[in-house]
Amino acid sequence: MSHHTQPVNHSARPALDRRGFLRAVGASGGAGAMLATMGALGLAPTAASAAPAFRAPARSDFTLSGRSGARVVILGGGVAGLATAYELGKAGYDCTILEARAVAGGRNLTIRGGSVETDLDGRTQKAKFSDGTYFNAGPGRLAQWMVTLDYCRELGVPIEVFTNANADARIYNESTGMTSAQRYRTARADVYGYVSELLAKATDQGALDARLTAEDKQRLLSFLQSFGAIGGRTNGWAYTGTNRRGYAAYPGAGNDAGTPLGAPPPLSDVFASNVGRYFSFELGYDQAMLMFQPVDGMDAIPRALTRAVGGHRVRLGAEVTGVTNLGGEVEVTYRQGRHERSIRADYCVATLPPQLMARVPHNLGTNVTAALSGFPATASGKIGLEYRSRWWETDERIYGGITETDLDLAHIWYPSYGFHGRRGLIVGYYNTGANARTYSALTPAGREARAVAQGVKIHGEKYRTELATSFSHAWDRTRYLEGAWTSPPHGTAGYNLLLQPAGRVYFAGDWLSHETAWQHGAFVSARSVVTALHQRVMSS
Ligand code: FAD
Ligand code: ALA
Repeated sequence: MSHHTQPVNHSARPALDRRGFLRAVGASGGAGAMLATMGALGLAPTAASAAPAFRAPARSDFTLSGRSGARVVILGGGVAGLATAYELGKAGYDCTILEARAVAGGRNLTIRGGSVETDLDGRTQKAKFSDGTYFNAGPGRLAQWMVTLDYCRELGVPIEVFTNANADARIYNESTGMTSAQRYRTARADVYGYVSELLAKATDQGALDARLTAEDKQRLLSFLQSFGAIGGRTNGWAYTGTNRRGYAAYPGAGNDAGTPLGAPPPLSDVFASNVGRYFSFELGYDQAMLMFQPVDGMDAIPRALTRAVGGHRVRLGAEVTGVTNLGGEVEVTYRQGRHERSIRADYCVATLPPQLMARVPHNLGTNVTAALSGFPATASGKIGLEYRSRWWETDERIYGGITETDLDLAHIWYPSYGFHGRRGLIVGYYNTGANARTYSALTPAGREARAVAQGVKIHGEKYRTELATSFSHAWDRTRYLEGAWTSPPHGTAGYNLLLQPAGRVYFAGDWLSHETAWQHGAFVSARSVVTALHQRVMSS
């Protein structure tokens, strides 16, 4: 409920009475009681409008209750499965994770020299990256507000800045006729400059008089002059370019004022190049700088979780083949090597990707299968290109960040680690949908050849000649995942059904959150199930 819809208190001394009352509540009941009371008075966020803070189950919760942690079998050892075991473990629950792949982490996958992957088409790649080089094939960046960073802090995973935006990275739109890549700073100076010029002209000519007061107009014109670096009224508010565009030769000593890039292209050429389409990305609440990454690879997170859970609780190479609610227990069958095994537990938490869980035989009901089938999977792929030199730093002065293109490779990421080192790894494509499927249909050698041929258009022949080795990952062709992320059908009966347990089986994963494609979503979904399961155990 917004403040505008709160009832108004018309009494003579409302503020004083309210303050005094709240002080009394605070003194006797503490901050929690005071906040709750403020909520009831419409002065603070209420429980209904803000998600309650997560409180991990604790062993002390069972003191005097005669209860103890139950046995829980967790299907899938990605971030959601590991976080479920980690949080329940704090209260002494007896958790076992069944993970089909050879390593835990799921989509949180970091490739290093020696990593081996065989895809659904039977193509095997073995990474030949040099020591210290890694390739985050899945997640690569974390926003500051994400709960993922809280887990990094709690688990002692060191983090460093991930450069998500860089004025010295490039933009290349082949389809608009660009013959060479442009620096971000130049593109942005021109787009902001011309947009400011147009808006200033329209404002000054009275086109917005119905919307703006005289003071508004002055303030807007003054903002546009600094935002776009445009001339004043006497210059017709013209954008003619400034050193924001960059320099051909940067300023030097003595009388060397440098060689600015010069005048911008004509307005219609700038708009025709469509470079402006990329500028909103870094404004996104989930993509704005600063962003972070774990030092030495994203998989530091599942490795730390596994250590905290206890490696003996994570059964690897264990492919779940069936789930049966037995009433008082759950039975899960799985295949491990040549062995068919089964495990019984009091509860089960299933974190497999929904389209794969839908194929696992179970007795949870056809409505559950139908709901699990309602999450369309997105294809996505990346290639790690290791180079013998860091030519992007030495020759092009690009230190991290992303080049944006309209090529099928979509984005090129420069590394945010190992600056000034001898070698380095570029993500040579990171694409989704049809572009991802174009690459995933190729052999690894074919993907490398295509990515390099495209990248040469931006960086020249060294993009080919300096290449040492590559490793590509196609998420739609990855066994036990078969997709990068899903588009959850939020608000549908099927989605809501899976937020509830099916008997003794709970579901968790980023697909059951409003932050799909982010580990944050996997963590908060796990926390939500942990809370519900623990409450059930405490009240049963
Ligand atoms: P998963 O990781 O999918 O875990 C499911 C697990 O179930 C897997 O380990 C799988 O092997 C296992 N499994 C499947 N079938 C079986 C079976 N039959 N038996 C046993 N086990 C089985 N997040 C970020 O925070 N930042 C990013 O920058 C970011 N970028 C991304 C980029 C890409 C290309 C991708 C693919 C993902 C990205 N994400 C990012 C999202 C992040 O990876 C996910 O949100 C998170 O890892 C999901 O965790 P999960 O545990 O819910 O699912
Ligand atoms: N969350 C994913 C990323 O930022 C899609 O790359």
